[in-house]
Amino acid sequence: MDKFPSGVEPEAFARELDRLELVSRLAETSRNLFDEGPHLISTAELPWGDTVRELAIEVTRRFIHGETWITGGGAREMEAEIVQWMGGLLGAPEPAGFLTSGGSESNMCAILTAKRRAGRRGGSVVFPDNGHYSLYKLCHMFDLDPIAVPAPAGQLHLVDPEAIEAAIRPDTIAIIATAGTWAYGSIDPIEAMGEIALRHGLYLHVDGAFGGYILPFLERSGYDRNIAPWDFRVPGVCSISADLHKNGMAPPPAGSLYFRDASLLALAKEICPPNGTMTGTRGTGPIAGAWTMVKLLGEAGYTAVSLKSMAMRDEIVRGVGEIDGVDVYPGSQINMSLIYSDTLDLRPVAEELRGRGWMFAARAIPAPVGVVVVPMPHNDGQIPAFLDDLREAVKSAPALPDSTAEADLEKVSSYGF
Ligand SMILES: Cc1ncc(COP(=O)(O)O)c(C=O)c1O
Repeated sequence: MDKFPSGVEPEAFARELDRLELVSRLAETSRNLFDEGPHLISTAELPWGDTVRELAIEVTRRFIHGETWITGGGAREMEAEIVQWMGGLLGAPEPAGFLTSGGSESNMCAILTAKRRAGRRGGSVVFPDNGHYSLYKLCHMFDLDPIAVPAPAGQLHLVDPEAIEAAIRPDTIAIIATAGTWAYGSIDPIEAMGEIALRHGLYLHVDGAFGGYILPFLERSGYDRNIAPWDFRVPGVCSISADLHKNGMAPPPAGSLYFRDASLLALAKEICPPNGTMTGTRGTGPIAGAWTMVKLLGEAGYTAVSLKSMAMRDEIVRGVGEIDGVDVYPGSQINMSLIYSDTLDLRPVAEELRGRGWMFAARAIPAPVGVVVVPMPHNDGQIPAFLDDLREAVKSAPALPDSTAEADLEKVSSYGF
């Protein structure tokens, strides 16, 4: 064939694909300290990593032409299997739920369910101001007032539950807590928030986009004995979201939403028929890819993956602690670290690290910028090189300016939220 119907030549198309792949930096996973996707590779601790990853990709491809309607029989079984397994691990007495396109959609479906339960138009939603931006987005979409409760200064990762209770208004329909806050990695005081929700008859949703597929395994492994109950063991919790395309190691898009029981799922379906999801047709490829990860890893595999990710996180925390002028923000209970400074302006540091090929997220709080890293198995062996580059870059960092102009902060937003 000389040309495709559009007039594109096969060689030109291949070249364009190469270029697009290059700018996406897909092949450079080893320097990518923040990403979502199938980042399972073989390491000494995870010798099956490559095999499982390749199978997840192969199964995704095998189901690629499917949709969840007429040809969705297999995908619906896979979805149900994931929901039963994970919902059970999260302590749901009667697991119910569905797979979504990710954390944003899961949060949206949860709040639509809360709205249905409250049986009213408008209203407000209360959440700690370290909640993900998707919480503000869903409030705007669904005509709800976001009531973002600030955490105390110097303790941005941990809101005071009394402040949450004080923020509740007569029109409040729900409280949203987070297990694995962006970008502190902390867990909100969910037991206390559960009591508040029950006392006020409110729906409590837990955003476990990042924490959902790591905390249950860290807790069961005994790695962290200080993880306070944050899941369905807390009586007031109605729903929990957990992203498979984050710590679930699955190809995107793959999120999940779990309800305490089938009656809540029924409410979700009333407002979002037929599945409870915002989307109508869903591709079955990502569902099959996520199912493959769950099926092949199980509790033992996810525990090993979680411990590997945390070992790298701990290496980062130790290494950053030895570099003058920078710190890791306290409070993280997952594989997420926010590297920041009280004394230095880290903007040139972030630029320098980018220049050296590192991929990470950045955040304008604490101002002017913090570097956010989420190590996963594909970063095996990369942490010493990252710490060396960070140490070098910090040497030439200027002192923190007295005030950080808006215009300067614009640059930060190009790194991410
Ligand atoms: C806590 C939290 N919730 C929700 C989301 C949104 O997830 P997604 O981008 O998959 O929609 C994120 C993404 O980083 C997150 O960190």
